[in-house]
Amino acid sequence: MAIERTLSIIKPDAVAKNVIGQIVSRFENAGLKIAAAKLVQLSRAEAEGFYAVHAARPFFNDLVNFMISGPVFVQVLEGEGAILKNRELMGATDPKKAEAGTIRADFAESIDANAVHGSDAPETAAVEIAYFFPTLNVYAR
Ligand code: TYD
Repeated sequence: MAIERTLSIIKPDAVAKNVIGQIVSRFENAGLKIAAAKLVQLSRAEAEGFYAVHAARPFFNDLVNFMISGPVFVQVLEGEGAILKNRELMGATDPKKAEAGTIRADFAESIDANAVHGSDAPETAAVEIAYFFPTLNVYAR
């Protein structure tokens, strides 16, 4: 499997719970490396731009309000099959449906405050990495 890069966001609920380190450890223990990282407070425009694909969904406003409710920890993770590996570590969108031992099962409260974001495909990973880290190579060397 190819070495990939993917975008991960530790969302405001998990940052507020003070579990950034515990979540990052799971990535590291799974063999993913951190290629870039920053703790940022998103503006409304930045959150709306990031989730533009969901603009027509009924939950869009609540999602944006949640994403700007506190700082987020944004990372680029790199490793073999990083995109799928990150999604597996995260678990299902709804933490009630997430497999035991996944980040969302262990740290998320609800489908809207669900602890982490992870790119879902190579195309979205490239767009999302460039969105937050415009000078970074979106692909692993
Ligand atoms: P989605 O891309 O479907 O999930 P994932 O984050 O697992 O890739 O949805 C993006 C975010 O939108 C999701 O993490 C939380 C929010 N959301 C809701 O608040 N309610 C919903 O019913 C859905 C589907 C998503």
